[in-house]
Amino acid sequence: MKNEDIKNSVIYNVYPTSFYDSNGDGIGDLKGITEKLPYIKQFADVVWINPVFKSPFRDGGYDISDYYAIDGRFGTADDLKNLFKEADKLGLKVLLDLVVGHTSCDHEWFKESKKKEKNKYSDYYIWTDDVFAVCPYPIIRGDGERNGGYMTNFFYTQPALNFGFAEKKYPWQMRWDDARLTPVHDEVLNIMRYYLDMGAAGFRVDLAPSIVKDDKDYECSSKVWTKLFGVIRKEYPDAIFVSEWGQPYKSVPKAGFDVDFFTQEFSDGYNKLFRKEAGTNVNISEGHSFFRKDGKGEATEFFDYLDKNLSAVRENGYVCIPTGNHDLPRVSLRRDEEDLKTVFAFLLALPCIPLIYYGDEIGMSYNPDISKDGGYNRTGSRTPMQWNGGKNAGFSASDGELYLPVNGDYVNVNVAEQQARGNSLFNAVKKLTEIKRTCACLSSDASFEVVSKDYPLVLRRNSGGETFTAVINPSAKNFTLDMPEIKNAAVLYSQNAAFEDGKISMKGVSAIWLLNK
Ligand code: GLC
Ligand code: CA
Repeated sequence: MKNEDIKNSVIYNVYPTSFYDSNGDGIGDLKGITEKLPYIKQFADVVWINPVFKSPFRDGGYDISDYYAIDGRFGTADDLKNLFKEADKLGLKVLLDLVVGHTSCDHEWFKESKKKEKNKYSDYYIWTDDVFAVCPYPIIRGDGERNGGYMTNFFYTQPALNFGFAEKKYPWQMRWDDARLTPVHDEVLNIMRYYLDMGAAGFRVDLAPSIVKDDKDYECSSKVWTKLFGVIRKEYPDAIFVSEWGQPYKSVPKAGFDVDFFTQEFSDGYNKLFRKEAGTNVNISEGHSFFRKDGKGEATEFFDYLDKNLSAVRENGYVCIPTGNHDLPRVSLRRDEEDLKTVFAFLLALPCIPLIYYGDEIGMSYNPDISKDGGYNRTGSRTPMQWNGGKNAGFSASDGELYLPVNGDYVNVNVAEQQARGNSLFNAVKKLTEIKRTCACLSSDASFEVVSKDYPLVLRRNSGGETFTAVINPSAKNFTLDMPEIKNAAVLYSQNAAFEDGKISMKGVSAIWLLNK
């Protein structure tokens, strides 16, 4: 069943170490996020917070050593409860991160699992039956006395929890539907229940398609999720599940997620919008992004893949389109404030749930030179939020070292400066999100037509007899367009563009939103 509640939502993603430090120890925390909820409410209805659970932080907290404890750097369970309470007062929903494809190797379950003697946790992880066995999987050998190696999910410190294999090829493997895996499923359900009872509205689910191994087309992982949702949705019908998957056409109708991120994993379309040049992403061929002044990009692959996904999710859920996240270089890389305004005017006009990664609303920059807590080149998108031009950019009162250094541009790029300046990116985002959240034509369910996929993009949306038109020109070229069919439209938003009597003049790097009643 479709969760209609979220169809007009904007999600704001908070990286907890870096948002706001309430106690001056140099690290962002839950109380800090709670203090800033009214700020978030200006643009968003849903907040997703990256992992805040107990962790040795060898992968930024995506390596959990206790699912039921809040890591001391972030605060306490009471702080989280209070965050939920305050969010609720403001009408904000809070999503936590559900990381169940693996745990940290410091987790008690794993410490038991690696023991030689058979015990309750022996099958919680994927172990070969001989430490010297050769097989084509990422296996770590020689950790403890158990005669076997364990399979990892990401870094070597992240042993994969056992959801089985699509087919059994080696004697030590279990099929995904093996009854011996039920205890792992039950652990996942219990983690969900624990935080839903505490006040979470749902979860962003880490690496969702990869739980079952050797799973062609993710058929068996989908079946496991469907089984889990069959249980949890009866108990918590309003819970929201957002997958880190990248194939909404599968994750929503087949696996049962409400929302899936439309990012780079399975199609180059998203990269081709913003991150196609050298250094703006990893592992992709280089080229030109569509959103560049040089006007050399192409958006066809993006729209084709979007179309495929939109038509498949329609009955069941939504596609989420992010400005960025904690794994990607910032969208601001080699873009100025005007460029970024066109990015937002585009993303917020799509029939999707937009996600704003913290700091993207002020164009925070990417620092390529830092690494911390297993972040490597992802760390540059995780720096402290730039609240003002004062000490530590207003992020922390600490006199010592911060979790990560504040970006050098904070004196010019910060919330306070942009709030005070009428033509700032912040104010553009605020206005665009206000319209997005209230205009019926911009709901995820309203019709969507791409009138032009080239420069300038022309998008059209309809709802209840009203017509919405967005024209977006990321290039430096000027354009004029004739649109007699929307002659009487009202201008909802404009950046370097003018509209009169059906004629639209677009300067270089410009955008306009129009509405016909
Ligand atoms: C996801 C997270 C990433 C993490 C990985 C392993 O891709 O977004 O930050 O390192 O999963 O959990
Ligand atoms: Ca702190």
